[in-house]
Amino acid sequence: MTRRAGITALGAYAPAKVLTNDDLSKIMDTSDEWIRSRTGIRRRHVAGEDEYTSDMAFSAVEDLVRRYGQEALDGTDMVIVATDTPDAMFPQTAALVQHRFGLQAGAFDLLAACPGWLYAVSVAKAYIESGQARKVLTIGSDALTKVVDWTDRRTAVLFGDGAGAAIVEAVEAPYGLAPMVIGADGGGAEHLTVGGTAKRLPSGTELKEKLTMNGREVFKFAVRVMNTSTLEAIDKAGLTPDDIELFVPHQANTRIIDAARERLGLSEDRVVVTLDEYGNNSTASIPMALTHALDDGRIQDGDRLLMVAFGGGLSWAAGVITWGGGRYKTAKESA
Ligand code: ACO
Repeated sequence: MTRRAGITALGAYAPAKVLTNDDLSKIMDTSDEWIRSRTGIRRRHVAGEDEYTSDMAFSAVEDLVRRYGQEALDGTDMVIVATDTPDAMFPQTAALVQHRFGLQAGAFDLLAACPGWLYAVSVAKAYIESGQARKVLTIGSDALTKVVDWTDRRTAVLFGDGAGAAIVEAVEAPYGLAPMVIGADGGGAEHLTVGGTAKRLPSGTELKEKLTMNGREVFKFAVRVMNTSTLEAIDKAGLTPDDIELFVPHQANTRIIDAARERLGLSEDRVVVTLDEYGNNSTASIPMALTHALDDGRIQDGDRLLMVAFGGGLSWAAGVITWGGGRYKTAKESA
């Protein structure tokens, strides 16, 4: 029988410090009304001055261990940390996680902007289904508030910090992940950047140290790929939109989420929205949203969940998972 990979355990973390829209309006020319009506965001959690992507990744894994016990990590052969804001170019954040939890595992970071965690899940799925690994610990952790330009109101209001962790391993049919959609279009590279070692992109566009974004172009791109990639993922799962019990999209903007939801013909109660509380947490947004949905009792075994994300690169990813096959625990059950 072919092995099928599924998600069997989850954990999440958000820093304690909160910045409300009103707080932001005191340091830049913006308002709660503008931010809420254009994005749906009310608050965002912000990493402490001395708190980094690795710290938040540790905390998300600790949350997972609190829920499922230390044995949930037994047999982990690979750690993948998806992030846009690694602590350093090396050591890779994933190696810090491997060491912290005493795992006998390979470890690498994956840079694919906001869809990074879904990319990591697709890699984990390949490892599991080919028999190369028994368990893969996938993490999305991002401290984007450390790379936003706090003088640019067009971007600074959008992002928050956080982390989510998930174990990917083999599960019994009918549970698990259907073939996923993974895509990129570097032709739109200049629309969303955070600088690295180069002064400019191959196209000549100057790179800045801080995050830059062409909001309108990213918005148009997002609405387009959320539509095409979700339909493609549903098709790869052999389903139709009517079969989807819960839609778990990347948490960037409620207008983008609503457009995708409406195109799929899904009612509002079938969508997970957490961005009002957290803003855009990049790679952490979907594993955090899944953990919240589980805690809220919104996910039952056998439910078909549709996940989708878009971001810098430009890049996107989508996939359907039939939930089940794990020992899921809500925060309340494991308290
Ligand atoms: N407060 C008040 N006014 C503002 C703010 C703000 N925070 N930001 C922009 N404005 C002003 C602009 O200056 C502009 O004023 P003007 O007309 O006088 O020039 C006006 O509001 C409208 O600006 P737009 O940029 O046209 O606003 P828009 O409706 O497009 O919303 C937004 C901007 C929210 C950024 C939207 O374009 C968007 O959501 N884009 C997608 C962004 C996204 O999802 N990024 C995720 C990337 S994921 C990753 O990989 C990191």
